[in-house]
Amino acid sequence: MVNQQSIIQNKRKLYIESYGCAMNFSDSEIIATIMTENGFETTNNEFEADVIFLNTCAIRENAEQRIRDRLKHLRSNKKSNKDLIIGVLGCMAERLKNKLLEEEKLVDVVAGPDSYRELPKLVAEVDDGGRAINVLLSREETYGDLNPIRLNTNGVSAFISIMRGCDNMCSFCVVPYTRGRERSRDPKSILIEAKELQKNGFKEITLLGQNVNSYLWFGGGPKKEFKSLTPEEQINSTDFAQLLELVAIEVPNMRIRYSTSHPRDITENVVHVMNKYENICNYIHLPAQSGSSKVLELMSRNYTREWYLDKIYMIRSIIPNCGISCDIIAGFCSETDEDHKETLSLIEIAQFEFCYMYKYSERPATPAAKKLEDNIPESVKGDRLTEIIKLQNAISLKKNMTYVHQVVEVLIEGDSKKSKDFWMGRNDQNVVVVFPKTTESKGDKVKILIENATTTTLIGKPI
Ligand code: SAH
Ligand code: SF4
Ligand code: F3S
Repeated sequence: MVNQQSIIQNKRKLYIESYGCAMNFSDSEIIATIMTENGFETTNNEFEADVIFLNTCAIRENAEQRIRDRLKHLRSNKKSNKDLIIGVLGCMAERLKNKLLEEEKLVDVVAGPDSYRELPKLVAEVDDGGRAINVLLSREETYGDLNPIRLNTNGVSAFISIMRGCDNMCSFCVVPYTRGRERSRDPKSILIEAKELQKNGFKEITLLGQNVNSYLWFGGGPKKEFKSLTPEEQINSTDFAQLLELVAIEVPNMRIRYSTSHPRDITENVVHVMNKYENICNYIHLPAQSGSSKVLELMSRNYTREWYLDKIYMIRSIIPNCGISCDIIAGFCSETDEDHKETLSLIEIAQFEFCYMYKYSERPATPAAKKLEDNIPESVKGDRLTEIIKLQNAISLKKNMTYVHQVVEVLIEGDSKKSKDFWMGRNDQNVVVVFPKTTESKGDKVKILIENATTTTLIGKPI
């Protein structure tokens, strides 16, 4: 007779590797949840895995190249374990669909971001000797009913996805094609997840979406504008400012962050809610992409340089010490030296805490790939990027130095990367702080006197 114990011991092992943005890392927890509900257990050791899933990103060409390199390496795992199942999930799977099965012979499963509930079935098809694919995008799926198990967690901070997809169609971006239509998740399920995290000892949550400021719950389904709702739907709807407030009240002892804000949609209301609640961090990620209105128009970002800078002034007038970070793309189609200078000047005026900076990478089938010529030579893209990085590093260092001799509150996330004798955490503005350990524990909020700073880190001591 097979007893319960032996069934448990014989659970098949799943190893998940995540690439790309926070939403993808959050999705990996959804994937793990679905798989563990269907007889698998997760492992951190790829060599004992029966199933390996790569949850992939397609945002730039080099993101996809990393996956192809990783797949080459996985060939040897398959040689030593001929029953090993390899799945490519996420955005690259959605972008390439069947092509991925044709190009990468060792891939057994291909699944897009809206088909994760099908994964156990897809794996079963492979068990039966086939290869399996599901890349259907949904207009409703939010996985809102699942309570994600947490992977590779520090036990302190966790992500909560509040919406999926994106309707923005920025001309350079592959996300609308890999993640489908925008849809918001039921606020009730978001509050339940936040409460559950609090109960399990987590101290910080980040609400996630590609464009959180267009969050709007009106009962489910593809995005609608508030003005197109019926009067009854309007009364019962929840927008992002309201959701943020609900979460802040529901888990008053947790730090709350959110990402990403789109400059066109961020409202004063949201910033007022941030200001009103102590537990909402004073930090906004507000990608500009470019400082030139001409380039912004070609990017279909739906705002100008002036509009963007007005948002910065609006935020700082309500929360003077608000940390603001940015994304910049260097060398987008037909970007001139003048346009590039406008980007540098926007960075100079905005004084970001930090910035994620990229060279433009043309993505097949996006509006830019179809209509615009990727006509800036690689070397020029590289030079412009270097210049942007140099400027931003100088600003980050200058801003970080202003914290020296100040006391900041830090939530301890774990050991510092460089030494186990030091803690690492972040201040309210999301700047990394490192300090020597004394009697504190992970998850504590502590007051730190900052004594020194680099471009990326504040260094201090507990007081
Ligand atoms: N939803 C977010 C962005 C998600 S993608 C927003 O609208 O701000 C994260 C970042 O990747 C973008 O902000 C952009 O700076 C960068 N990115 C997206 N597509 C890119 C491309 N084709 N080439 C280079 N960088 C790109
Ligand atoms: Fe991409 Fe634009 Fe959507 Fe961001 S808002 S995910 S850049 S299409
Ligand atoms: Fe990459 Fe998909 Fe995120 S393309 S950046 S993993 S939404």
